[in-house]
Amino acid sequence: MSDLDQVTLNAGEKSVVLPVIKPTLGNDCVDISKLTKETGYFTYDSGFTATASCKSAITYIDGDKGVLLYRGYPIEQLSEKSSYVEVVYLLINGERPDAAQLKAFNEELAAEATVDASVNTLIGSFAKDAHPMAILTAAIAQLSGIYHASLDLSDAEQRRKAAVRLIAKVPTLSALIYRHGKGLPANTPDTSLDYVSRFLKQTFESADGQYELNQDVVKALDLLFILHADHEQNASTSTVRMVGSTGANPYASVAAGVTALWGPAHGGANEAVLKMLEEIGSADNVESAVVKAKDKTSGFRLMGFGHRVYKNFDPRAKVIGVMTGKVLEQLGVQDPLLDVAVKLEQAALQDDYFVARKLYPNVDFYSGIIYKALQIPTEMFTVMFALGRTSGWVAHWLEQQVDPEMKIGRPRQVYTGSDVRDYQG
Ligand code: ACO
Repeated sequence: MSDLDQVTLNAGEKSVVLPVIKPTLGNDCVDISKLTKETGYFTYDSGFTATASCKSAITYIDGDKGVLLYRGYPIEQLSEKSSYVEVVYLLINGERPDAAQLKAFNEELAAEATVDASVNTLIGSFAKDAHPMAILTAAIAQLSGIYHASLDLSDAEQRRKAAVRLIAKVPTLSALIYRHGKGLPANTPDTSLDYVSRFLKQTFESADGQYELNQDVVKALDLLFILHADHEQNASTSTVRMVGSTGANPYASVAAGVTALWGPAHGGANEAVLKMLEEIGSADNVESAVVKAKDKTSGFRLMGFGHRVYKNFDPRAKVIGVMTGKVLEQLGVQDPLLDVAVKLEQAALQDDYFVARKLYPNVDFYSGIIYKALQIPTEMFTVMFALGRTSGWVAHWLEQQVDPEMKIGRPRQVYTGSDVRDYQG
């Protein structure tokens, strides 16, 4: 970037000197907070394409280079060497745990994994075919009914405890939601198991408590959770922060994040990708799908392609792309949708439309094929995303609560309605 530490903006007769904020990495930011006071102008940036909403030390993305760092560590290194629980600790505490800290954290997560029996009543009140994201939203909001009264947001230990509770309980809620949809009886998490195994066993165990853990499945899911854990100020995390800025409790804030994640332009894309691949059906139909995706009147986009920030390969998609073939081979699964996906990726990457717009596969392009191989139903895919992302959401909520510059999120607007008029008659 430039050496400027301030920029001058001329607005007619008025001129204002705006300071430039220097980040550790990434683009310099012009601090416009005094612009309105000094010139009367607002700024307009629909979709926040050029606006930083906060300062954060958690995650860094370089979209042009395809770089993703959690607390400075490249995602490729964390994927290879770390575990999801270690990554969670890193995200919420800022540093990696030592062996004793990791052990204690795992134990704390296990101790917090069970949920109040009233949660089963709530989940049971939903229709069996209700969308799992609707149930997850309600179940997380219900946690605020259970824990809110005892939560003092000014107490750091109580904030940390609430964050840990959310990370520990969302897998339990997800397993119970899956079981409800399948007509299986509600059960409790096996707290002798590690985080991912606990979720898998609770989800898939039979009515008499049988489930054989497969370490390839545990490893694959652990890796997917690492890759989904955080992604700086994406729509759902920004939603958590927006709600958190009002002083709302963390359960309410995260429930709001879940609703934002649900949309197909965001986390709901993993479900949409699988539906799209099924609709395309065969590698022979890939070409016509690409033609349709380029036709703006078709209303069809290549799901799992494109990203607001990445104008290069999404580094998470690279890791998942390699892992997909491996996982299917390990599990002995032959899925023709993988051929469709590979052909679609190749076709889009060679097509001028996608090349010119720098549209690459994103994290959701291959994740659904893996979830499918792990026997997770399509409508649960975005719940799996939420499960991994809860750690990022609470890390941002925790960071926000001690940010001395935090203010309630309250954007302005460009009013385009009627001028003032009199009520006649
Ligand atoms: N298929 C076809 N064309 C696309 C796609 C796509 N998937 N994505 C973007 N484009 C085109 C747009 O039509 C637009 O073309 P134009 O310049 O000729 O008008 C151009 O590329 C830029 O697209 P925008 O929508 O302006 O980009 P934006 O940054 O606002 O949107 C988004 C990013 C929402 C991810 C978009 O690429 C998209 O809809 N992708 C498909 C859904 C998806 O996979 N979402 C998951 C994102 S990752 C995540 O949230 C976990």
